[in-house]
Amino acid sequence: MKITTIILAAGKGTRMCSELPKILHKIANRPLLQHVYDMSSDLENNTIKIVIGHGAELVTEALSHLEADWIEQKQQLGTGHAVQQTSDQIADSDTVLILYGDVPLLKLTTVKLLINNVNDRSLALLTVNLADPSGYGRIIRNDAGQVTKIIEEKDATPDQKKINEVNTGIMAVQGKQLKKWLSRLNNSNAQGEYYLTDVIEMAVADQINIVTSWPETEDEVLGVNNRMQLSYLERIYQQEQANSLMARGVTLRDPMRFDQRGTLESLGQDIEIDINVILEGRNSIGSHVKIGANTTIKNSIIGDNVEILANCIIEDATIGQGSKIGPFARLRPESVLANDVHIGNFVEIKKSSVASGSKINHLSYIGDTTVGSKVNIGAGTITCNYDGANKFRTVIEDGAFIGSDSQLVAPVRIGKNATIGAGSTITKDSPENQLTLSRAKQISLAGWQRPVKKET
Ligand code: UD1
Ligand code: CA
Repeated sequence: MKITTIILAAGKGTRMCSELPKILHKIANRPLLQHVYDMSSDLENNTIKIVIGHGAELVTEALSHLEADWIEQKQQLGTGHAVQQTSDQIADSDTVLILYGDVPLLKLTTVKLLINNVNDRSLALLTVNLADPSGYGRIIRNDAGQVTKIIEEKDATPDQKKINEVNTGIMAVQGKQLKKWLSRLNNSNAQGEYYLTDVIEMAVADQINIVTSWPETEDEVLGVNNRMQLSYLERIYQQEQANSLMARGVTLRDPMRFDQRGTLESLGQDIEIDINVILEGRNSIGSHVKIGANTTIKNSIIGDNVEILANCIIEDATIGQGSKIGPFARLRPESVLANDVHIGNFVEIKKSSVASGSKINHLSYIGDTTVGSKVNIGAGTITCNYDGANKFRTVIEDGAFIGSDSQLVAPVRIGKNATIGAGSTITKDSPENQLTLSRAKQISLAGWQRPVKKET
């Protein structure tokens, strides 16, 4: 069976009050439309067509990486009109799945159920019972309980408005039939629009069964129309991810204060995550890792038994087993730390590797540097890697000891087991096993007196 998925995404989203088309607004740092796309791209044998209109250029530019056919609906004359734009691209034998680009939490299981209900004698419709159905199209059933049509709120009688079962807008139908009904739509209704929902009544007239199914929860079919709803869906999405992490053996101190904006490539056991932690992009986290409060980790690999204290920012970094980071540390891209490395407070590392057992515990900048094993870098050490035009590398060999408040002016090499005296500015390679220092000689002036304030 071949599936054609049509994602409707031409609407403006006026209530977002935004320069950005609604479907480009994000949940978990991913555009709404991409959530729908990603879910449906998990269906086998599926071609995805996206109907766009408002901000079409912005949409195709932002999401050019999606493997989809983009179809423009120049004027938004209704959901039926939107689907009509795809008519000449639908094969008779296709099973056509219709989704909304602004309904981001729909689940694959729900969609599969819908697709399985389609054949040349039946159309599948996703409905839901809402305590407050206002604004939605109502599902009209006959005495035998069979669906006979959908009535839009604006066309409904007061009695029909009392019906709680509503149309989610999501349906699946055979291509041949859909095309036939689409060609018969008209816009003689309260809104002067071509309603996709009118195909239900036509199907019934053609003796097609309307098979309804329901999502597991209402959340799946919630749409985004304003920024309150956007934030509401973000929390639902985050709560789901938090639940799935906890189910896999992660302790979250407070699942309400945890955000995952991306994927976990691999996840160990007995991980502890304190409040306000953000995981972005693709991360891997080993077993027994502890992550302190207010830490952001992006596109990084964290080994087993790593402890990250509060308030760290870690991006495109690798941290070896048993290492200890923070508080207030920043690991910038291409920081590669081996096992048992200590990075302390107010330390910034960039494009540098640090071999096992080395310590950089206080107030340092280490950039474009290769640090050997068992190196101790004292407080306030700075690698001067940039001359304003070019960047140069620093090499610090195994067992070196860099005294506090030193500047290592790259390119420069500190030899194995070398010691750099505190407060040195090192501009030349320093030999192994020796003490190197550059420091003005200390003097004391015996008869010196402090200045006193002049009387006026
Ligand atoms: C539609 C349904 C209604 C259902 C509700 C669920 C119709 C006539 N009504 O109503 O029964 O309860 O969804 O949310 O189908 N769109 C286009 N082009 C258009 C019009 C809409 O692409 O010309 C897209 C929108 O971007 C949106 C989706 O279709 O993603 C639904 O449009 P919307 O205006 O929200 O439909 P409703 O009137 O709410
Ligand atoms: Ca809507």
